[in-house]
Amino acid sequence: MRHRFPVFERRVYINSCSQGALSDSVRDAYAHYLGDWDEHGAPWEYWVGRLDAVRSSIAGLVEADEDEIAVTTSVSAGVSALASGLRFEEGRDKVVISDFEFPTIGQIWHAQERRGFRVEHVPAEADGTIPLERFEAAIDERTALVAVTHVCFRNGSRLDVEAVTRLAHERETLVLVDAYQTVGSLPVDVHALGCDFLVAGVLKYLLGSAGLAFLFCRRDLVVGIEPTTTGWFADRDIFEMDIHDYSPAASARRFEAGTPPIPSIYAAIAGIELMQEIGIAETELHVRELNGLLRGGLSELGATVVTPAEPERSGALLCVRSTDVNALVAALDAAGIVTSSRDDNLRISAHAYNTAEDVGALLDALAANRALLG
Ligand SMILES: Cc1ncc(COP(=O)(O)O)c(C=O)c1O
Repeated sequence: MRHRFPVFERRVYINSCSQGALSDSVRDAYAHYLGDWDEHGAPWEYWVGRLDAVRSSIAGLVEADEDEIAVTTSVSAGVSALASGLRFEEGRDKVVISDFEFPTIGQIWHAQERRGFRVEHVPAEADGTIPLERFEAAIDERTALVAVTHVCFRNGSRLDVEAVTRLAHERETLVLVDAYQTVGSLPVDVHALGCDFLVAGVLKYLLGSAGLAFLFCRRDLVVGIEPTTTGWFADRDIFEMDIHDYSPAASARRFEAGTPPIPSIYAAIAGIELMQEIGIAETELHVRELNGLLRGGLSELGATVVTPAEPERSGALLCVRSTDVNALVAALDAAGIVTSSRDDNLRISAHAYNTAEDVGALLDALAANRALLG
């Protein structure tokens, strides 16, 4: 299916941790959106139907039910709606977040300090892991919620979300998982993870585009949370158009807000369908093989891989230390290879469409820039 991603005619694209490559079907989905607009004028009912269709795709993807999924415009929008609905309870005023969280997660929970919450960070070890004992020390009977990322966007470290969830639930603490760096790259099952909430978006390994994300909320928690960050698409009846009260939907739709991102919905449906056609479990195995080759080559170059080596402690993203990462990304770009960086790390993120030849080309380019690997 590599021919379905035209970027490979020109470049080696190995940067899906930032954004997935554009496929023919996602491009067609945008054309389809414009065609429907042109042909029908304002096909609102059909568009609302597309919203339900993407909700159903997402539910299938993470093994949730449709009424547990809110379709949002970003992870930030979903987490902000969730945070706005969590009531500050006497005796449970703490939010625990790992030091591997994406900025938006840290910023949103620190914003809740204005509402009386306290935020405690769980620090990482020098080896790029966060041992379970560190979560154990931070989560206590005063903790309302723990926010934990599945795979860290900075260093590719994968956290033991299942174990953190078990620990949190023993202390009656809610768990929010940020699965943006895993969804689409490996099977994500909200029940297997055991989490209460999970957020992700479709821009990266789900091959969609910007503007569409989602929040999973466990069904039995939904009606107890009343988001104050809200809008008419969160109402129990969107078309009631009542300005006199706030009656949120009985489902996770209550975490939504205003007009849905219709073009992004078309793209998301196409991206998710394509990934499912390719196979997400198969993709995980394929990328594991490619990353094995990559690690072998990097070790021959004497490079420092900062992503933990144990298979269960990493995902698709592999990060490599550099002495000047901006220069390294630019040098690779000049060689026709698209990667990205965070901190001092080069981020390499293979996906279903990458091949052993891509890895070979990347290793050759890294060998030519050996000095930048330190
Ligand atoms: C782990 C993680 N969380 C969240 C985001 C982005 O969140 P948002 O959809 O709010 O921009 C990213 C994207 O770069 C990410 O890697």
